[in-house]
Amino acid sequence: MAMKEEIAKRIEELRRQIHRHDYLYYVQASPEISDQQYDRLFSELKTLEKEHPELITPESPTQRVAGEPSEGFAPLRHTIPMLSIDNTYNAEELRAFDTRVKKLAGHGEYDYVVELKIDGLAVSLRYENGRLITGATRGDGETGDNVTANIKTIRQIPLTLRDTSEVPEVLEVRGEVYMPIASFTSLNQQKANKEQPLFANPRNAAAGSLKLLDPSITAKRKLAFFAYATGQVSEEFAQTHWEMLEKLRSFGLPVNPHIEKASNIDAVIEICGKWDQKRKDLPYQIDGMVIKINQFALRDKLGFTGRAPRWCISYKFAAEQAITKVESIEVNVGKSGTVTPVANLLPVQLAGTTVKRASLHNFEELARLDVRAGDTVVIEKAGEIIPQVIEVKKELRAAHSQPYQVPEKCPVCGSVLVKDPQGVYVRCVDTHCLGTLKERIMYFAGRDQMDIRGVGPSLIESLVDSGLVNTFADIYNLKKDDILTLERMADKSAANIITAIEGSKKQPLARFITALGIRHIGSQSAQILADEFDSLEAIMQADVEKLQAVEGIGPIVAQSVYDYFRSDTNLKVINELLAAGVEAKHSSTKISSELDGKTFVVTGTLEHFSRSDIEQMIKDHGAKVSSSVSKNTDYLLAGKEAGSKLDKATELGVPVISEQDFIKMLGDKKKVNDDTKKPGQKGLFE
Ligand code: IVH
Repeated sequence: MAMKEEIAKRIEELRRQIHRHDYLYYVQASPEISDQQYDRLFSELKTLEKEHPELITPESPTQRVAGEPSEGFAPLRHTIPMLSIDNTYNAEELRAFDTRVKKLAGHGEYDYVVELKIDGLAVSLRYENGRLITGATRGDGETGDNVTANIKTIRQIPLTLRDTSEVPEVLEVRGEVYMPIASFTSLNQQKANKEQPLFANPRNAAAGSLKLLDPSITAKRKLAFFAYATGQVSEEFAQTHWEMLEKLRSFGLPVNPHIEKASNIDAVIEICGKWDQKRKDLPYQIDGMVIKINQFALRDKLGFTGRAPRWCISYKFAAEQAITKVESIEVNVGKSGTVTPVANLLPVQLAGTTVKRASLHNFEELARLDVRAGDTVVIEKAGEIIPQVIEVKKELRAAHSQPYQVPEKCPVCGSVLVKDPQGVYVRCVDTHCLGTLKERIMYFAGRDQMDIRGVGPSLIESLVDSGLVNTFADIYNLKKDDILTLERMADKSAANIITAIEGSKKQPLARFITALGIRHIGSQSAQILADEFDSLEAIMQADVEKLQAVEGIGPIVAQSVYDYFRSDTNLKVINELLAAGVEAKHSSTKISSELDGKTFVVTGTLEHFSRSDIEQMIKDHGAKVSSSVSKNTDYLLAGKEAGSKLDKATELGVPVISEQDFIKMLGDKKKVNDDTKKPGQKGLFE
């Protein structure tokens, strides 16, 4: 067979396998291979397509993130309107719904299907001949936004349906795009690090993410999907809702596994009650249940009222709320000086945790609610996650109560606070403010930045208050005795801290850039800059145009980076850091030649390679393998249950990588040697 044909065949095979594993993972929830094995298939496909771009097809799994950011979304008219559902809030209302159904059904037999009401946003996906053609938001129900490029980034949504003879030529699938709670909290954590406004709940986060103009950012938001209805279909393929959902599942679409049949309204009510209790255990948020008549024939008979069908109703859970008292309103100073109000509360139980503080978001929100010290307030967990004040019980307010006054001066350093033009954010712009300084140092030493173990809030508090630390650079001039006098801690602990500080000097460039706490720069943009410019000097010298030309760096970030390195104060600190021995060197995780001359230590149980195989591979790439971790070690490759070597590496600041990272390092050298070898078998990366 000609070489080209062979490659085309291999590409086909890889796509088929990836498609199958996506189905097993997302729809059946029973993967057959590990994430690493999956990643290998994927990167092999990517490499082959890179070498043979003429073989790329729009349905290839590598094409999920394709295309340029758009200027806006084109409207897309739904062939069949996307309706809304009427709500009920208690068992009586559910019974009333069933009574109405009974009346209209005559003597027809029916049962219900009870589904979770996923708290995301409704979308309509159009498949033609099994291929995903468009994806649109609900919009006003008649016309939505064409968000196809963003929809394609959602891994749970198949680009091609499974090849069963029953897939209709035209199949519109409707369902909910949502953000799992874990993705939501980590997104908000990243936003908090950058001092950007947080998403109030996973639904807003999902909606915001699906409406981003740049699909490559949507792709990082880890959205997910459940199908629960159809729109236009060229051939009917089911008589009941239950059967229809089973068919959708067999076509490769993810359908929620917790769907139940109920033969009467009592059974429906029982299921609703059960999920009101159990919903906190789900990895995504639901705000109620959806109850649908199973038989399509009866649905047709019942028809619609206004914008909602008569055959479907939702049961909404009461949001978890608690009532408590505001003991005081406090302001916090963030690392870039943003001052935000927080309510200190009389501790109260809410959705399984004790809540002592609640966010007031910003001074505008505080004024809108008119929260005052001493007020009785209703608090709610937004998306059952972040507690916030939602209402003030004004009728219970003391007569002498006074409105809250926005502070004019920084609570830490006393300098005059500055309002942004909209008056929403208030900042302390004094570069010597100790409040800001403590926050910045806390961030600098944090786990995802310089990772200086043992340098935590209370030590930083005393280091700053005693005047020993005024800048990041001062950390590196600390002596063991300084720490001993401050914290009255054991000699050993102080020594460990000094070792950790020493070890942090080796942190790679991306972490160093993140640690500086430049406005709008989080770990992702720092990594992009490090990969692009390769050295601190190059980043520092780049002008705005050059920074902005980097993919993934927008104008605001570019300006912020540029400005940061134009401040004499910042430059002085950076020079001192470098003089103290901080390396800030770029360590690429991409290029295999990076291995050349490096020293590796391997520890723990490996999943994909035998110890001798991996050691051989390391040597083959020009690197050395050593048996113990020292300051000369460049990488610790750690598998499962890594023990003391991992501790030692962490202590010395030696970068720790996984098998997967290692595979990525080899990325460019990867070759397919032999068509007879199955992916996942050893030998693929020789
Ligand atoms: S069925 C005509 N099923 O709830 C019925 N909707 O409040 C069409 N939703 O716009 C919708 N989970 O965004 C249906 N299992 C589910 C649902 C669900 C969440 C959302 C959907 C809809 C909204 C109505």
